[in-house]
Amino acid sequence: MVFESQHPLVKHKLTLMRNSATKPKKFRELIREISMLLCYEATTDLTTQPLTVDTPMGRADGVELKHKVGLVPILRAGLGMLDGVLDMIPSAKVSVVGLSRNHETLQPEHYFEKFVGHLDERTALIVDPMLATAGSMIATIDLLKRRGCKDVRALVLVAAPEGIAALQQAHPDVRCWTAAVDSHLNELGYIIPGLGDAGDKIFGTK
Ligand code: PRP
Ligand code: URA
Repeated sequence: MVFESQHPLVKHKLTLMRNSATKPKKFRELIREISMLLCYEATTDLTTQPLTVDTPMGRADGVELKHKVGLVPILRAGLGMLDGVLDMIPSAKVSVVGLSRNHETLQPEHYFEKFVGHLDERTALIVDPMLATAGSMIATIDLLKRRGCKDVRALVLVAAPEGIAALQQAHPDVRCWTAAVDSHLNELGYIIPGLGDAGDKIFGTK
């Protein structure tokens, strides 16, 4: 299931990110901010437990987060989304997956992984700005499920219809939140209109 954000702040920030005149510094600020907003939308059902605290004026009944969350940035571009989500859920543990899409085959090539323990006890929140063919996302979900993950969610900024269909086919149980669903993939596997190469924009490599 894919949820496209309709939030005006999300749409505003994404439009700034799409603008090819936006410099990497601004792009990094925006991706951090938009990731916080998407995280908010994707976590409305996290569990809490009661917590009573002393205010300067008396006792207040409140809650604290009980839910265990694991964040999974897909290198490189997923790193751009990590800090914003981690700001929102500081108790989250971070696993890292390194995948690079082969420019000819468009298949993800695996080069790194480092997982935290007890993945079966945590909701996994994968972060990667681009869902193009969905090859990278599907490979990451495969890795997580093989390690016992039962609740896997994905946060992306731009999703192509082709990627959404492939993700739903491979992992129908995985919910994905996106800032936008775009038109299509071009012959090189880039999302149209998209925002170009997200990793290059974040790391200033082009
Ligand atoms: C980009 C992006 C995704 C992937 C999406 O990463 O960040 O991981 O492509 O494409 P897909 O849905 O067709 O798999 P890329 O492999 O270019 O690596 P980078 O983040 O290091 O630039
Ligand atoms: N990866 C990107 O960074 N951008 C795209 O449009 C597709 C894959």
